[in-house]
Amino acid sequence: MSSLPPQVESFLSLSHELYINGRTVRSQSSERLTIYNPATGQEIASVADANEQDVDAAVNAAHQAYQSGVWRTMPASERERILLRLAELVERDADILAYLETLEQGKSIHIAKGLEVAGTLSWIRYVAGLATKITGSTFDVSIPMPAGARYTAYTLHEPVGVVAGIIPWNFPLLIGVWKVLPALAAGCCVIAKPAETTPLTILYLAALATEAGVPDGVFNVVTGRGSVAGNSLVNHPLVAKVSFTGSTPVGKHIARSCSDTLKRFSLELGGKNPAIVLPDADLEQTVPGLMLASFLNQGQVCAACSRIYVTPELFKPLSSALADAVTSMTVGAGLDPTAQINPLVSLSQQQKVSAYIDKAPLEAEHVIKGKHGPNPAGYYVQPTLIINPAPTAACITDEIFGPVLTLTQVADTDEAIRLANNSPYGLAASVWTQNLQAAMSLPRLIEAGTVWVNSHVMIDPAMPFGGYKQSGVGHDFGADWLKSFMHQKSICIRY
Ligand code: NAI
Ligand code: MG
Repeated sequence: MSSLPPQVESFLSLSHELYINGRTVRSQSSERLTIYNPATGQEIASVADANEQDVDAAVNAAHQAYQSGVWRTMPASERERILLRLAELVERDADILAYLETLEQGKSIHIAKGLEVAGTLSWIRYVAGLATKITGSTFDVSIPMPAGARYTAYTLHEPVGVVAGIIPWNFPLLIGVWKVLPALAAGCCVIAKPAETTPLTILYLAALATEAGVPDGVFNVVTGRGSVAGNSLVNHPLVAKVSFTGSTPVGKHIARSCSDTLKRFSLELGGKNPAIVLPDADLEQTVPGLMLASFLNQGQVCAACSRIYVTPELFKPLSSALADAVTSMTVGAGLDPTAQINPLVSLSQQQKVSAYIDKAPLEAEHVIKGKHGPNPAGYYVQPTLIINPAPTAACITDEIFGPVLTLTQVADTDEAIRLANNSPYGLAASVWTQNLQAAMSLPRLIEAGTVWVNSHVMIDPAMPFGGYKQSGVGHDFGADWLKSFMHQKSICIRY
């Protein structure tokens, strides 16, 4: 790793602790979590494995900052200015953040820079602007008593209080921003809990927030295990809302825990996202579009395409084009600028995904595997295309979260829709067609929170994103994003 920028080397060599009250605070636990480079399996850093007392300290810091009013009563334009300043600092340190992301997560440095850090900037700027667009309404009410009294009423939106943002490992910085920034823009105070394997960039971001002028205690970070730090955070009585992105089982567990005290929660969960390719699809656009949708970040994307349904007309040309594309992809470290497929995030994710690939030949007509990774100690998985799996095969029912794609021939569009909807998930989907009638009508028949036409996986801060069915509760992004971090209060004045 001798070619790393010096600031990256020096950040990695720090003793990473918790970030509470605007500074690094030693954990009360002696346990540590080791952080590995997925390309080599080698240790690159270690972080605190926070316990319940650490979580309590972080929540109390956030609660005190909230109560003090230092953030929530600040003029909205000032909050906006500070968050825009944070974006400038992220831009200044873009290369450092991108390297850290590639080193702890495994993804390509191109994706880390061009998508993750660039996306982080867009989302911070979008959400900063929302801070000055919080509005309520005024309305006439017709209360008849006492005789002659008149009333007018209006609504205020007020921050819910202390928010726990629980972050997954697939886009630790970008999704970290999705969990933290709308809460900050709304005037809440936050404790971020990154995933066990990828805590470095959010620790870095929290320090940048302090540099940008976010007051102490407003943005705290506890690193640690989901079962300990995550769980203590969700159960803490001073936490008013949990904003979570991750697996459906943990999402359900969080929803159950929140129900004890009726904490607010929003959940962005798993997906098993279908693409439907119709007879008139333009394959020159469809094949690269589906490859990107399926293999971006090694398929570790909640909205990734993982099931393709194609009608008989295009089955042969599509399957051979996808097979060629999958077998020709180059596989290598995220820091290798020529590698199109990089390692998965962790040994356990590599093992989980490999188990699906190993049993696929028993459940499908044909399995096509791409190249091996260059380093057997790295967490590589061969990109894999599974042709015509059985309808009940694990590879077509389960969220795999790896570079594994299924292609199924269907009789007609009706069967494609029926199979696409035959899932407990409903996060995202796509339709590939040149036919206006199909492009307009099919998206309405698909049970998913986002449906793309002739595209898949393209997101934008202005476009609401959320799941149908077991893919989640609530929405991220869009003009109403802050509302889920705010209470609505009605004020009624008699005159
Ligand atoms: P996970 O849901 O366990 O982890 C996500 C976050 O939740 C991490 O920060 C983790 O520490 C935390 N967490 C875990 N248990 C918790 C608890 N009891 N209370 C509070 N927080 C808790 O996901 P995991 O195990 O890392 O990945 C398993 C599968 O989940 C993946 O293979 C994939 O299918 C899915 N997943 C989906 C994501 C998405 O973007 N929707 C992101 C990550 C994983
Ligand atoms: Mg888990």
